[in-house]
Amino acid sequence: MKVGVIGAGSMGIGIAQIAATNKNDVFLFDTNQDTIKKSLDKLAKIFARLVEKGKYTAQESKAIIGRITPIDTLDNLADCGLVIEAIVENLDVKKSVFTQLEEICSSECILASNTSSLAISAIAGACKNPERVIGIHFFNPAPLMPLVEIIPAIQTKEEIVLKSKSFIDSWGKLTVLTKDTPGFIVNRVARPFYGEALRIYEEGIADFATIDWAMTEIGGFRMGPFTLMDFIGNDVNYAVTESVFAAFYYDPRYKPSFTQKRHSEAGWLGRKTKRGYYDYTDSAETPIPNKDKELGEEIVWRILVMLINEAADALFLNIANKEDIDTAMTKGVNYPKGLLKWADEIGINKCVNKLDELHDIYREDRYRCSLQLRRMVMKSLTFY
Ligand code: NAI
Repeated sequence: MKVGVIGAGSMGIGIAQIAATNKNDVFLFDTNQDTIKKSLDKLAKIFARLVEKGKYTAQESKAIIGRITPIDTLDNLADCGLVIEAIVENLDVKKSVFTQLEEICSSECILASNTSSLAISAIAGACKNPERVIGIHFFNPAPLMPLVEIIPAIQTKEEIVLKSKSFIDSWGKLTVLTKDTPGFIVNRVARPFYGEALRIYEEGIADFATIDWAMTEIGGFRMGPFTLMDFIGNDVNYAVTESVFAAFYYDPRYKPSFTQKRHSEAGWLGRKTKRGYYDYTDSAETPIPNKDKELGEEIVWRILVMLINEAADALFLNIANKEDIDTAMTKGVNYPKGLLKWADEIGINKCVNKLDELHDIYREDRYRCSLQLRRMVMKSLTFY
């Protein structure tokens, strides 16, 4: 199948690489031709290293890169069976690209968006034939992260959903199906990983290093929340939090934090500016965490129960099924365990008690327990 990729930035080139590696002819478009050139140069360097490491032969590498054809007009996408858009995160610009694609591509072609935060139904709404529009959301770096969220718009035909899913599965990716709601699965369920950690810091319970130590050493997470936010970039992570908060009609559960806002405003964006929650300059001293076990366990428990609550609520609202919610968090953001499986292991009643305890102390809606968990306790149910 011929695959079109629009946008040759960090996501677009990664998606093009996956498609080409899976023997599809790829047509890559960007309004900035220089970006296509730079991205293809970078890809060539990546493959040179992969050849050195013995992952590919020189011949295979040449064939993969050779399957990606840069194009300078969308008209060249006429023969594609699938077009994936990965351009700037702006609804009006995306709508305009999709309405152009409708005129160019055959009626059989699936039109997909890689958007992280925009409604697929809104993009589809701009089209004459919205039933073939779908969200296919990769994670960064796309060639390495196994998870892909498949997001049908409310207008998408079932046949398009099945075709898209089986196509992306055939690329060796793990697909999960999610409703077209803000943050889909991962960017919704993961909010407390950052938000609750920031809250714990703001209350003076622990510093960044201690919270990160607790989450990695005791919680088993690959990276602590502050290290991860510095890695993602405080500007990017803050923007996602703010957009999810607004998209949920300002539900206090998703309230952004002033600490992150100030870090972002100060230009303390993280690794990319050599200063975030931590100092990344050469002479910087590594901050020492307070390795108090009791404190560490309390930090992990509070963040974890908030994550479990979020995952349970996503299930309650039929955002996705339980298997897909757990897969999304283990394969999209490398959590050590699926959150619902984790809840079973801890005990649903213990989760409810902790959430009620937080709610009683704070009297904030942020800590309200999902009805999903409460009902499960009443009926003595487990997720699995
Ligand atoms: P990027 O800024 O690296 O690349 C975007 C590219 O689109 C640029 O090269 C730009 O020249 C091009 N572009 C802008 N308007 C265009 C148009 N009208 N037609 C063709 N090309 C155009 O952005 P990135 O990070 O690759 O993100 C792209 C999309 O993927 C966004 O929708 C973003 O929300 C989504 N996404 C990003 C992730 C990330 O971690 N960066 C993860 C998952 C999804």
